[in-house]
Amino acid sequence: MSATASPVLQTILAERFREARRQTLALCEPLTPEDMMVQSCPEASPAKWHLAHTTWFFESFLLREFVPGYRLFNADFPWLFNSYYESFSPFPEKRLRSSFARPSLEEVLAYRKHVDAAMERLLERDPDPEALRRIELGANHEEQHQELLLTDILHAFFTNPLKPKYRDQGSGVRDQKDRDEGPGTRGQNNGERGSALPMIFERFEGGLREAGHAGDSFCFDNELPRHRVWLEPFGLANRLVTCGEYAQFMADGGYRKPEFWLSAGWDAVKSNSWRAPLYWTEKDGGWRIFTLRGEQPLERLESTPVSQISYYEADAYAHWAGQRLPTEFEWEAAVEGQPVEGNLLDSGNLTPVSTELLQNQNTTKWGDCWVWTCSAYLGYPGFKPLNGSLGEYNGKFMSGQMVLRGGSCVTPAAHIRSSYRNFFSPETRWQFSGIRLAS
Ligand SMILES: [Fe+2]
Repeated sequence: MSATASPVLQTILAERFREARRQTLALCEPLTPEDMMVQSCPEASPAKWHLAHTTWFFESFLLREFVPGYRLFNADFPWLFNSYYESFSPFPEKRLRSSFARPSLEEVLAYRKHVDAAMERLLERDPDPEALRRIELGANHEEQHQELLLTDILHAFFTNPLKPKYRDQGSGVRDQKDRDEGPGTRGQNNGERGSALPMIFERFEGGLREAGHAGDSFCFDNELPRHRVWLEPFGLANRLVTCGEYAQFMADGGYRKPEFWLSAGWDAVKSNSWRAPLYWTEKDGGWRIFTLRGEQPLERLESTPVSQISYYEADAYAHWAGQRLPTEFEWEAAVEGQPVEGNLLDSGNLTPVSTELLQNQNTTKWGDCWVWTCSAYLGYPGFKPLNGSLGEYNGKFMSGQMVLRGGSCVTPAAHIRSSYRNFFSPETRWQFSGIRLAS
């Protein structure tokens, strides 16, 4: 063993690596090879590309650097499956990923096996501490792509005229019904009509606090350094805004009245002809909402959190409701000490669930939808990106994006923590992104 990496830590990291690799393949089980080729919008990527790119990460940043004499699976793959690391190699244009009919799915799966076998040999051979850090980073990277794979498939199936379901009702990635303890637990939910829990604003005192990751456990570079922030007293809603509430905003002219909107948001409404959240379709005088479990009428999903909306829509709703969006530091202060529990990927729901399920629960700030905060995505004071090409992972996107917090119904629970910062540009709508109001 190296002097600084304990055998226990090495075993934990090896299992985390294997679990991340297994889970990505498990998420592809309901997909056909044709499904896995679809790239239905420029932001999305085909599932087959996700399978290859997550493998590329381990080959590029682990095997090529830490395994002397490592044999590349294919000499073209290092540039072909590079996503955006300019200092690593050139890479194909993102919007062309759906043209990757070759390599075949079979070849991509063989690539995964080749890299996994080499990673197992590395894990057996007493990897040095930097290699172990990168294995953990690679597992976390793969978990991010698991969420992207599902959000991308949701978009792909939404654009398919047949509106296929990724999973039927009652089947989960890890079926919750096997673990439910009875009524009132946060179990699998089919989005049946139910009354939403009344929205209450919990009060927080504010004051001088610390934000950012604390301790030695894994975090991304953008969660550091921990630093002091000043918070005025604030209130945070006990639950997310529901589809039913959002429908009231729409019925009140939400998308027709510029007074609710930021200037750039109103421009986006007009130029994109937005009238509703991304997966809402008007049919026979009513709205239908497309989910990974198929399409359902709004009436059945009224008490479930609204999702797939942009920052601009979240902000306009808050303006209409006479409230505001929280800052990322208010959200972080509100979850301090809370376990990461909620409607996350592990629940198997794959879609935001009814807030009535919260009736018998302590308030949770995790899961269902990432919440848009009104904080711009910036480096914390003293922020230092990782060395080398990995420094491009997070830091170079710190311009023109907003921070989202809290995880979604397709985020692995082990992936997030109170300091975790997701980020997207304010017009982004294809993520599981929703609204938690602040006052
Ligand atoms: Fe990536």
